[in-house]
Amino acid sequence: MKIYRSHILSPIDDTNVQYLRDQAITIDAGSILRIEDYDPLRNPKIIDRSDCLCLPGFIDLHVHLSQYRIRGCYEPALLPWLKRHVFPEEARSSERPYALALAEEFFAALAMAGTTTAVIYTAPFPIACEMAFQTAHETGYRALIGMTMMDQNSDAALLGETRTVLRQSIELYEKWHDASDRLDYIFTPRFAPTCSPALLEGVADYAAAHNAWIQTHLSENPDEIIWVKELFDGDSYAEVYDRYGVLRPKTLLAHCIHLSNREMKLIKKRDAKIVHCPDSNFFLKSGEFPLARIREHGLDYALGSDVGAGTTLSMLYQAKMYNFRSSLSRVDPADALYRITLGAAHLLGWSDRVGSIEAGKSADLVFLEAASLLDSNAEDITSALIFRGHELSVAETLINGKTVHLSKN
Ligand code: GUN
Ligand code: ZN
Repeated sequence: MKIYRSHILSPIDDTNVQYLRDQAITIDAGSILRIEDYDPLRNPKIIDRSDCLCLPGFIDLHVHLSQYRIRGCYEPALLPWLKRHVFPEEARSSERPYALALAEEFFAALAMAGTTTAVIYTAPFPIACEMAFQTAHETGYRALIGMTMMDQNSDAALLGETRTVLRQSIELYEKWHDASDRLDYIFTPRFAPTCSPALLEGVADYAAAHNAWIQTHLSENPDEIIWVKELFDGDSYAEVYDRYGVLRPKTLLAHCIHLSNREMKLIKKRDAKIVHCPDSNFFLKSGEFPLARIREHGLDYALGSDVGAGTTLSMLYQAKMYNFRSSLSRVDPADALYRITLGAAHLLGWSDRVGSIEAGKSADLVFLEAASLLDSNAEDITSALIFRGHELSVAETLINGKTVHLSKN
């Protein structure tokens, strides 16, 4: 059992945030046992984080581990960027030592950014995915992790035969699905152009039979959309996925920038979820997320960094970009905080465990050195946090009560 003394900022919903000054947070067996006003008599032995703001650990719903080292490698359009930077880098993760070193570097960086839950792409090799799982397991991470699947239209070094790619993914699913209550496998067909109909159908059938997770990319870049039309007989991009059964309640669709109303209705009908990656979208000049229409259609969305097209793992930076990159629709700080915490937890169906700081939830916490912000109210602190929080140092990050990052200061 341990007790932290700190100041809690925690989302209530997409418009309200709660601020509780000078609290004692008791953690027992990985969970938050109690939250009460700090009292030196009742809580004589504490870990003192009274110069920090305590937030729920951040949730990144879309990040490519195997692209961590190529952040900021410039090529301002998706398809040439994939060819020039991504495919050669992902090919390096076919080697065990490279994949292991990269996984260790990645999870350490994720912890330092205050992210405690992540939905992760690895490279198209079982060893890359396995090293990610092993590292996540050892550090105690909460994550969905998948081996990127490709069986057509890419560099030969990255392609697999359809049945092999399916079998490898199913083996990883079987190994990791029940191995830990914080880890699960997510089937990861990269995107329609690099996946044959047989591969998409195979993934969808298996996911339907096992209620498994799927992640993919949808409607990110104009050239990509034209290519999908050519490859799949003129159907819209969302209809292509639907034709093979890929759109399901546990399917995460990254980007969704150029969707028609018809496609949005289809996604709503299938109850698939959207991951908005604003930093990436502007790095690759993909376009602006249609926030007003996404909201009108009642689609469920939260945020992802999309590193390496995204430039940073900082989810506070991604939350700021969510505001900055919305030129027509209003994005309030409380909404931005919600999309990297409780809103993302809801989207995953995990809000009973993570996303906010409440007794009974898992102790997934981040302590930010924020002495200058503490003497204020919930609204002003949330605003400062969203617009300059990415500059604050992360003093400590906990997952399930275990310290995964501790600042040396
Ligand atoms: N579409 C297909 N693959 C990728 C990828 O690795 N990154 C992004 N941003 N989009 C993709
Ligand atoms: Zn991506």
